[in-house]
Amino acid sequence: MTADTAGTAGAPAASAKGFDLTRLLAERGAERYDLHARHLNHQLPRMLHTIGFDKVYERAEGAYFWDADGQDYLDMLAGFGVMGVGRHHPVVRKALHDVLDASLADLTRFDCQPLPGLLAEKLLSYAPHLDRVFFGNSGTEAVETALKFARYATGRPRVLYCDHAFHGLTTGSLSVNGESGFRDGFAPLLPDTAVPLGDLAALERELARGDVAAFVIEPIQGKGVHEAPPGYLRAAQELLHRHKALLIADEVQTGVGRTGDFFAYQHEAGVEPDLVCVAKALSGGYVPVGATLGKDWIFKKVYSSMDRVLVHSASFGANAQAMAAGLAVLSVLEDEQVVANARRTGDLLRTRLAALTGKYELLHDVRGRGLMIGIEFGKPSSLGLRSRWAMLQAARKGLFAQMVVAPLLQKHRILTQVSGDHLEVIKLIPPLIIGEREVDRFVDAFTAVMDDAHGGGGLLWDFGRTLVKQAVANR
Ligand SMILES: Cc1ncc(COP(=O)(O)O)c(C=O)c1O
Repeated sequence: MTADTAGTAGAPAASAKGFDLTRLLAERGAERYDLHARHLNHQLPRMLHTIGFDKVYERAEGAYFWDADGQDYLDMLAGFGVMGVGRHHPVVRKALHDVLDASLADLTRFDCQPLPGLLAEKLLSYAPHLDRVFFGNSGTEAVETALKFARYATGRPRVLYCDHAFHGLTTGSLSVNGESGFRDGFAPLLPDTAVPLGDLAALERELARGDVAAFVIEPIQGKGVHEAPPGYLRAAQELLHRHKALLIADEVQTGVGRTGDFFAYQHEAGVEPDLVCVAKALSGGYVPVGATLGKDWIFKKVYSSMDRVLVHSASFGANAQAMAAGLAVLSVLEDEQVVANARRTGDLLRTRLAALTGKYELLHDVRGRGLMIGIEFGKPSSLGLRSRWAMLQAARKGLFAQMVVAPLLQKHRILTQVSGDHLEVIKLIPPLIIGEREVDRFVDAFTAVMDDAHGGGGLLWDFGRTLVKQAVANR
């Protein structure tokens, strides 16, 4: 270190020659796709080039991005759900500036900072039957925590989950993943068993074996946007408790207002999960965060003595930035009545989309709650469309949904996603702050794409044929 960069022992001076983020992005930003292809998961840029999603977005705010030409894009994906209050919400942003400027003595690890306690207190106010929180850094870590806590608290090894479930991709969470595409090749996983969503008899059969620690469930499944039948969660909870097993609600995607309630399990009276997993939208899309909320007795068992104080912990867990962002998000949620907006705007969007099912034979179902909406396509009835549909299905299931997602972005500048591999379902999980303007824009664009698809000709089906060729080549 030279004299001019040393500064004082407490605060190094900024170097004129050193790191300059703005300059770095200006000089090398254009290399983004090449860098990714060379040094990261090379299939991502490949896939983006294939479907024409290889855009260069320059700026984002609220529910929109802008490209270099200043064109706006409506975001109906919210960063896989993390941008619940919209991108760069000023209140969250200010909280992060404030927390950095405060130069807190964060992560000393041998003190108790105020922000984690305050965020835990606030989070628990939305789930009054729960008592304690563990903070980690992602959704999958929130699930891992719940699985570990459930196994330790019950002394049992096995976890149950639903067919098609998604709870994250680290090894424990993968053990409760309901899709073979994710699991294959990663065995052995934890002792686990899948049960069909909504099938209480199957759940009871597994519980009767006496070795089940917990049943983990998304109140609305992210893959395909499927919801358990009314009464299922409550009945499952009763069965679990009768067999001394725990109910884990994975609210990583559905939580923090997404479905029009703070937690999706609250839609059904009397459901009080033993453990609740939260992440994604909690920190406003800026800082990774995960939280596992649970009952006092479970935490007391896991942390049963001073010797066990670090038996489950995370180096970055409860860091000040994540906690400050979380507190700011929850404040925004209340001050701007974001959850009520998600319910109201979600109802409007779903109703307007559902009204189109009578008009378009390829559109089979519109479902979901709040601003978590699934649009399902299916076999058409007319002869001409049936042969086109069959051509896609023969190559790979899910291509029609991909055929819809592509023009939504290319022609209408709206970002959406297919809701899972081999599914003919598009999932909408926009920022919870969208309103009528965005509903109009989406419904108009979707209607135009459906008109094209049902017209049977033109660019849309040409693109379908390209997808078929690629799917065949990829086999
Ligand atoms: C229901 C659910 N649980 C867990 C996860 C994993 O979260 P993360 O990607 O933050 O690890 C996800 C991610 O999509 C999810 O939807």
